[in-house]
Amino acid sequence: MENKFRPEDEINYKDFLKNPLRLFAVVYPYLIMLIIVVGMYWVFNLDNAYLNTQQKQLLARDTVAPEIPMQKGAMMEGVNVKEISVPSAEMIAKGAELYKANCSSCHGNEGKGDGIAGAGLNPKPRNFTDLQGWKNGAQLSHMWKTLEEGIPGTGMVAYNYLTVVDRFALIHYMHSLMPDFPKDSDSDLEALDLAYSLSEGKVTSNQISVSMAMTKMNEEYGNNKTKIEQLTNELNTVEGEIATLLDKVISNKERASVTLVHGKIWQNGTDAFIQEISSTINDNGFTPTTLRLTKDELTTLHSFLLNARNRLNLQSQS
Ligand code: HEC
Repeated sequence: MENKFRPEDEINYKDFLKNPLRLFAVVYPYLIMLIIVVGMYWVFNLDNAYLNTQQKQLLARDTVAPEIPMQKGAMMEGVNVKEISVPSAEMIAKGAELYKANCSSCHGNEGKGDGIAGAGLNPKPRNFTDLQGWKNGAQLSHMWKTLEEGIPGTGMVAYNYLTVVDRFALIHYMHSLMPDFPKDSDSDLEALDLAYSLSEGKVTSNQISVSMAMTKMNEEYGNNKTKIEQLTNELNTVEGEIATLLDKVISNKERASVTLVHGKIWQNGTDAFIQEISSTINDNGFTPTTLRLTKDELTTLHSFLLNARNRLNLQSQS
């Protein structure tokens, strides 16, 4: 009798055609294995911070500058607060004009907070005819604060580029929309005057955004250009083990060179190096892998970079 193994004795292939779901029972152990292998591959290649062996150095909250808007410097003339805090027909007319141009799109023509542009906002634009739930308040001095500073995190931005008199005119107009608005006492007005130097007037200087300042700084750093090129070149041409290491930790050699030439503290040791690069990781040409190097790898990397710096005399000129 023939004793040859034939799979069809054990597995009824025809049966699969009749009942394809059974095929799944056969394939599924392999499928699970495949999922596990792919999953492990994925997990081990995650570039996530929780795998870091080097502690990421966090900057204190107040050292991270938020982007500040560009502003043209201006001279604000001093005003007589007592005088302009009394609404005149002229001021209300001026305020109405300004309101229509700047505010009605959100706050609505009658100040009911029902403007088209405000429909999708959360929180909704304030309804000036309802005195409930104001954040700064409806007094002249309170609305001044709103116009000077905006309400951070909402659609209500600052309108501090309008002149003092224009802002008072706006507020008088808004008050004219309110059935019964709270009035400022004399001391409220004095405090307002003092807080914002309204009668003195003030000079605001030009202001540029942080990113623009950085571009400018880079331009000024121009005299380091050759050094950056030399170091980039060095990083590109080095061979052997160190080259493999560099490939792991540097995604953009030119940027890394900029970071190293301008860096002020990384020379002081591996901790200082990590501190200097970790807050801007990725943007500075170094990859997050740098934060996961072993102590030995980190030391090797650091002494190579330190060597290169000494050889090329890379200290920044600034
Ligand atoms: C893009 C839409 C938008 C525009 C334009 C706008 N606002 Fe507002 N405004 C808002 C929103 C939204 C709020 C509500 C903020 C909140 O509840 O925190 C608000 C709130 C206010 C408040 C109440 C602040 C408080 O104490 O609660 C005043 C006053 C105000 N706006 C005045 C103005 C004036 C004056 C203008 C025009 C110069 C103007 N707004 C233009 C969206 C806008």
